[in-house]
Amino acid sequence: MRIDLTNKVALVTGSTRGIGRAIAETLAACGARVAVVGRDLAKAEAAAAEIGNGAQGFACEVGDPAQVTALVEGVEKAFGGIDILVNNAGITKDNLMLRMKDEDWNAVLETNLRSAFVAIRAAQRGMMKKRWGRIINIASVVGLIGNAGQANYAASKAGLIGLSKSVAKELASRNILCNVVAPGFIKTDMTDAMTPEAVQALSSQIPLDRFGSPQDVASAVAFLASEHAAYITGQVLTVDGGMVM
Ligand SMILES: NC(=O)c1ccc[n+]([C@@H]2O[C@H](COP(=O)([O-])OP(=O)(O)OC[C@H]3O[C@@H](n4cnc5c(N)ncnc54)[C@H](O)[C@@H]3O)[C@@H](O)[C@H]2O)c1
Repeated sequence: MRIDLTNKVALVTGSTRGIGRAIAETLAACGARVAVVGRDLAKAEAAAAEIGNGAQGFACEVGDPAQVTALVEGVEKAFGGIDILVNNAGITKDNLMLRMKDEDWNAVLETNLRSAFVAIRAAQRGMMKKRWGRIINIASVVGLIGNAGQANYAASKAGLIGLSKSVAKELASRNILCNVVAPGFIKTDMTDAMTPEAVQALSSQIPLDRFGSPQDVASAVAFLASEHAAYITGQVLTVDGGMVM
């Protein structure tokens, strides 16, 4: 079984580094032409040049709905359509509920959840015309089990799961599949910012006894984007070393 994404176009948000970068590299290695998206155009273009296979860089602040809609239109124009949409960009602004400010709640919900809604709404038209589409939203195990100090982040990731199941039901008749990949603890800039105590507490809960790599997540995304996943929609695939089962 080989994953072949030749002639597919993939848009991956937050793909200049971390998990998004690994997803972009993997989809390109499988033959897709990838729209590499970051807040900074120069960084996105540099990443696209490194990724190759016709990848192009785009700038987008995903917290701004107008920019997300313009991004989808820009990528469709540049590549002639979008087959695979991966909503990966995400942030944390952790605090205990008592100290969590409204702006930290809003920023996380707007960046992690509203961005995906807007991108899907914009990209679905083209996918409907082709009667083929793959939408993959990157949530987190925290969206399934919650986490003290991450009420905003957990709500945004749980929201992505509800959004994805609704999209899966709404678009199934057009052969557009929507699934969630929920990573556990993956080694990136995001987790490098955690305290050693938090890292220790988390890692003791991983049966496979190691942190995941961005590639572990990217491999799951490539599978869900492929023909091999043609009968899978509305699912949450945890990539977490067995943390949540
Ligand atoms: N690292 C983990 O352990 C882990 C676990 C579960 C889920 N996740 C999720 O995986 C995704 C990627 O995380 P990562 O660990 O690679 O993080 P990261 O911080 O290394 O990368 C996040 C990416 O999103 C982009 N981004 C953030 N805010 C943005 C905005 N407002 N507009 C445009 N781009 C923006 C960043 O530029 C970056 O490219 C996130 O959605 C995150 O919540 C990560």
